[in-house]
Amino acid sequence: MATVNENSERDTAGKKVLFSGIQPSGIITIGNYVGAIKNWINLQLDYDSIFCIVNLHAITVKLEPAALRLNTLELLALYLACGIDPNLSTVFLQSHVSAHAELAWILNTVAYVGELNRMTQYKDKAKKHADNINMGLMDYPVLMASDILLYKTDLVPVGADQKQHLELARDLALRFNTRYSDTFVVPNAYIPKVGAKVMSLQDAKIKMSKSDENENAYISMTDSPDVIRRKFKRAVTDSDSSIRFLKEKPEISNLLSIYSAFGGVTVKEAEHEFEDIGYGEFKSRLADAVIAVLEPIQNKQKQLLSDKAYLNQVLKEGAQKANYRAQKMLSKVYRKVGFVQKS
Ligand code: AMP
Ligand code: TRP
Repeated sequence: MATVNENSERDTAGKKVLFSGIQPSGIITIGNYVGAIKNWINLQLDYDSIFCIVNLHAITVKLEPAALRLNTLELLALYLACGIDPNLSTVFLQSHVSAHAELAWILNTVAYVGELNRMTQYKDKAKKHADNINMGLMDYPVLMASDILLYKTDLVPVGADQKQHLELARDLALRFNTRYSDTFVVPNAYIPKVGAKVMSLQDAKIKMSKSDENENAYISMTDSPDVIRRKFKRAVTDSDSSIRFLKEKPEISNLLSIYSAFGGVTVKEAEHEFEDIGYGEFKSRLADAVIAVLEPIQNKQKQLLSDKAYLNQVLKEGAQKANYRAQKMLSKVYRKVGFVQKS
């Protein structure tokens, strides 16, 4: 079999390509940070990195246009405040590069209805938004595959909930390559060992999610120190008192993972640190660790949001860089499928 990496984009420094994105659909939680953004920052020096704000994905559920506009700039400011460097990486808005929607159409012709119908996130969202099961919701993973495949992406850092979508992107790449000859790089998921699935603070069986009706279930990246302390204090725990990472202690294990991600220690080290300590004190130190990371990010985000001209400039330059690369791939795909070139 042809080695897929022959298609791999190498920039002048010979780096592999990394691509990821988040929907500008409102609240961004510490789950998004630990599962995705934090790893982006760690990887951006080693990869030719592309970070997208996926607004085409965001409208697959109902969103007020004014809110979407605001969320977009807030998410961009958050990306930058967390440490994404637009001089080093490409940061852009999905709707600014039309090739994403165009490639999605082509990929739709190699994606099967059956496989999309089986996607767990689609099934969950269809249940949750029963009054709005639109085609976009079902097609969501194909658009995501298009995002990734346009840039010859090698690595996609995401939380565990995106694993199935990544597998579909790989399948579509391979299927297209088989049908039309070698074109796409087959991407790999990067899922962190700790924090790939941050769980709800109220129910450790479900994922921490911004769309949870109970605000105490999640910590938003913009929650104030007081709110963070209160939410951790109210976090559900068992009635035992040992701070151990164990299957039978899912709530404490979740809090230990969060502490590990924010405190910069391993889970083992955290267990050791809290050996003779009660839940109350643990939760208070956990809040301290999270606040220590979030406060400077929040300040930076606020500062960036007051400079709209700068944010727009970042988007403009990002779109130029992304568009150049995406158009090259789209032209190649159009050639492969037999579309007559525009003269
Ligand atoms: P979304 O908010 O669905 O656009 O997700 C953006 C990124 O955050 C994706 O890589 C998700 O896998 C990741 N993510 C979302 N929620 C969590 C969570 N609770 N734990 C870990 N990663 C998450
Ligand atoms: N589907 C992802 C999520 O909900 C967001 C996303 C869209 C994405 N396109 C992507 C993530 C491409 C990684 C790569 O979390």
